[in-house]
Amino acid sequence: MKIAMVGSGYVGLVSGACFADFGHDVCCIDKDQSKIDRLHDGVMPIYEPGLAELVDSNVKAGRLTFTTSLKEGIADADAIFIAVGTPSRRGDGHADLSFVYAVAEEVGQNLANDAVVVTKSTVPVGTGDEVQRILSESGTSHKVSVVSNPEFLREGAAIGDFKRPDRIVIGAEDEFGRDVMREVYRPLFLNESPILFVNRRTSELIKYAANAFLATKITFINEIADLCEKVGANVQDVSRGIGMDNRIGPKFLHAGPGYGGSCFPKDTLALLKTAEDYDSPTRIIEAVVKVNEGRKRAMGRKVLEALGGHDEARGKKVALLGLTFKPDTDDMRDSPAIAVAQTLTDCGVEVVAYDPEGMEIAKPMMPEVTMAADPYEAIENADAVAIVTEWDAFRALDLNRVKTLLKTPVLVDLRNIYRADDMRAMGFTYDSVGRP
Ligand code: UDX
Repeated sequence: MKIAMVGSGYVGLVSGACFADFGHDVCCIDKDQSKIDRLHDGVMPIYEPGLAELVDSNVKAGRLTFTTSLKEGIADADAIFIAVGTPSRRGDGHADLSFVYAVAEEVGQNLANDAVVVTKSTVPVGTGDEVQRILSESGTSHKVSVVSNPEFLREGAAIGDFKRPDRIVIGAEDEFGRDVMREVYRPLFLNESPILFVNRRTSELIKYAANAFLATKITFINEIADLCEKVGANVQDVSRGIGMDNRIGPKFLHAGPGYGGSCFPKDTLALLKTAEDYDSPTRIIEAVVKVNEGRKRAMGRKVLEALGGHDEARGKKVALLGLTFKPDTDDMRDSPAIAVAQTLTDCGVEVVAYDPEGMEIAKPMMPEVTMAADPYEAIENADAVAIVTEWDAFRALDLNRVKTLLKTPVLVDLRNIYRADDMRAMGFTYDSVGRP
C-alpha cells in the first residue's frame, strides 16, 4: 500500500514510521522545509524513545520518504492521512480546524487517483463531513472517501502504543473506506489487535470521550488524594483497593499535580465546546477541567507550605526536579511545573530547575526560573526540593548527597515516588500527595 502522511509532527511522524515498518510505502509531508531537511539528515523534530532508530531503518529500506510537496507526496497514495495540528482556538477553546481544512483543499486540487482521506488529527464531531464536502466540491473526478481514524498514542510510549494498540477505531461511511483501512491495518489484524468499525461521527466522538474519561479518572483520584490527606488515609492504597475491581481497573489512578500535555487539556475543552454547541451539557467534564486547573497552583502552595508558609517562603530557594508534563518527552505543553514554578516565584521564591529533556523548551516559557546542569546542582543550597515529574533519573537520587547539599532537608514529592517511612528515617521533612 502507498500511504501519504500530511503533517510530520508527533502523530504524523510516529504513525508514518510505524506504517513503513509494517512494510507499507510511506511519504511524510510537511510544509516546514527545515523540518524536512532535518528529517533527511536523520534529526528528529521531537524526542520520542525509539523513533530515530525506526525512522533510520525504514529510510534505509526505502519505505519511508519525506517531502514538502503535497502534490508529489500524495501521488498514487491509496490512503492520505491528515495528521496536522488542531490547537485550541484563541478565546473559545474550540479546536482550530484551519490546518485540517487547508490540507483537504490542497488534496482535492492535487488528487491524481482514487483515494481514502483519513483524519488522524483529533477533530470535533462533524469535521469528517466538512472534509468530505470540501473534497467533493474541489472538482476532483476521482473517487474519494473520508474516514476517521483517531490515535491513542501516549507520548514516550508512542511506538509501542501504535504497534500493540488496545484497539483501532475506524469511522467510515462506505465500503471503499472500510476496505482500504482494512488493508492499511492488516499487519495489526494479524496480531489480533481488535478493530472497531463505526460511523464517522461516532469515531470522532470516541476519541474525545476516551480522553475525557481518562482525565476524569485522574481528577477523581486527585480529589480523593486531597481527602486522604484530611482523613489520614493513603491514596496509593485506595487506588489499589478500587483498581482491583475489574469494572474500575488499576490504570490512570496515580494521584499527582494534575494532568497536562498536548491532549487532555485541549481535548476536554474542545469537547465542552461541542457539548455547548449542541446544547447538551457535560457537567462532569466541566468540573474536571476546573478542578484540574486549580490543582496546579494548589501544588505550588503545597511547596510553599513546606517552606513554612507564604510569608516565610520569600527569599528562599526551591529546586524543581522535572519540568515536562510527564517523563520521556520534552513536551512542556500545559505542564503542571509551569504553574508550580509561577506560584513560587510570585511569592518571591527563587526557583532552580533541572529536567533531563525539557529545559531548552522550558527556558523561554519560564523566564524567572534558572536551569541547572544536573539535579544536584539544582539542589545545592536550596531550602527544599520538589519532584514535579517522575523521570526515572529522580527515582534513585543519592539521598545522602541530596541531604548534605540542601540547606534544610525538605522534600516535596508531587509524584509519590519515594516511601514516606524511608524518607523520614533518613531525616527528611517529607511531604507527598494523598499519603499520611
Ligand atoms: C494521552 C492519552 O493517554 C492518549 O491516548 C492520547 O491519544 C493523547 O493523550 P499523553 O498526553 O501522551 O497521552 O500522556 P498520558 O500518559 O495519558 O498522561 C497525561 C497526563 O496525565 C500527564 O500529565 C500525566 O502525568 C497525567 N497522569 C496520567 C496522572 O496524573 N495520573 C495518572 O494516573 C495518569
